Amino acid sequence: MPLSVDTLVSLVRLTVAHPASLLAFLAYRYQQNAGSIPRDGLVTTAYVCLALYASSWLNNRLRNGLLPLARLNAKTWPQELVFVTGGAAGIGKLTAERLAHKGAKVAAVDVVDFKPEHANIKTYKCDISDIEALQAVREQIVKDFGLQVTMVANIAGINNQKLILDLTARDVDRMLNVNLKSHFWTAQVFLPAMVKRKRGHFLSVSSTMGLVGICHQSDYVAAKHGILGMHESLHYELQKMYKTPHVRTSTVVIGHTRTALFNTFDVGVVGRFLSPLLEPSAVADRIVAQFERQDGGMILMPFTNELLPGIKGFPYWLRNVLQATSGADGAYTSRPSREQLGE
Ligand SMILES: NC(=O)c1ccc[n+]([C@@H]2O[C@H](COP(=O)([O-])OP(=O)(O)OC[C@H]3O[C@@H](n4cnc5c(N)ncnc54)[C@H](O)[C@@H]3O)[C@@H](O)[C@H]2O)c1
Repeated sequence: MPLSVDTLVSLVRLTVAHPASLLAFLAYRYQQNAGSIPRDGLVTTAYVCLALYASSWLNNRLRNGLLPLARLNAKTWPQELVFVTGGAAGIGKLTAERLAHKGAKVAAVDVVDFKPEHANIKTYKCDISDIEALQAVREQIVKDFGLQVTMVANIAGINNQKLILDLTARDVDRMLNVNLKSHFWTAQVFLPAMVKRKRGHFLSVSSTMGLVGICHQSDYVAAKHGILGMHESLHYELQKMYKTPHVRTSTVVIGHTRTALFNTFDVGVVGRFLSPLLEPSAVADRIVAQFERQDGGMILMPFTNELLPGIKGFPYWLRNVLQATSGADGAYTSRPSREQLGE
């Protein structure tokens, strides 16, 4: 594994900044100072780290209820039927396979023909931007499995990689239809059964570009921001309007991942150190763990993404420094034509 901010942060979190190490350190200082803890830099850092852990735990419990739902296990996974989009390739394919290995039943769809690679998976050809096609596929799934979908993983996505003046109307329509509107359609098709059952999980894959905008991605950025906005409302509607807090919602905010979708995206050595390339298997594992835990929330990968939700409040100069250091604006080589530049 190449050296990156993530390897360093993981190392620190597993060792000196682990809550057990922090508590042991404070106990040691207490004993050393005859029953009182001195105020110095290290002690203050330990307090801050423990406060961050406590705040993260509290956030999770406030969002998901003080008593967590039981984790899914070998006995309970087989009662779940998960609808996975983009199941033919990349993150969607790996997620479907991991869910099937856990014992879940999986209905995987993709716009291309593909074959299941596990007995628990059934595959369907379906364009998720077409709500009528989704309704038809739901009927088929209910017939094939004899039960309603209990969880949805909206993973399919496309990428145009064009500067805004090069995008055609068709490009923009297709982007918004596949990468944003399809999340509304799967919600309308599959949430009613979950709301009736008062349990379920609706998860959508967004992106780092759901939090920041970069060159060559205006349409993708708009769609991925839209997913996060839609999910904010959905979370509160399920809690307050539909009175179904146990229908969980999750978003997945991931950086560059080793799949075909962004295979020409190159942020350079510094960018790669700050935001290492993710393995699709690692993303699939986090998605499955989120379903297994039965808690909703936001999955942020890699570590730098954990700092980004607040970026809109950063001063402009700081945001600019981060954007320049990330290398993201130079990740694609195409430039405006001489004609567009008026030359
Ligand atoms: N790869 C990355 O760097 C990266 C980074 C951030 C977010 N993401 C997001 O992760 C998700 C998965 O992407 P991936 O990297 O696995 O890409 P991928 O290209 O490997 O897989 C995407 C799958 O979606 C399918 N698909 C496309 N349009 C569809 C449609 N209309 N109906 C049904 N299926 C359709 C494709 O056929 C493909 O099988 C996407 O939402 C993407 O935006 C990827």
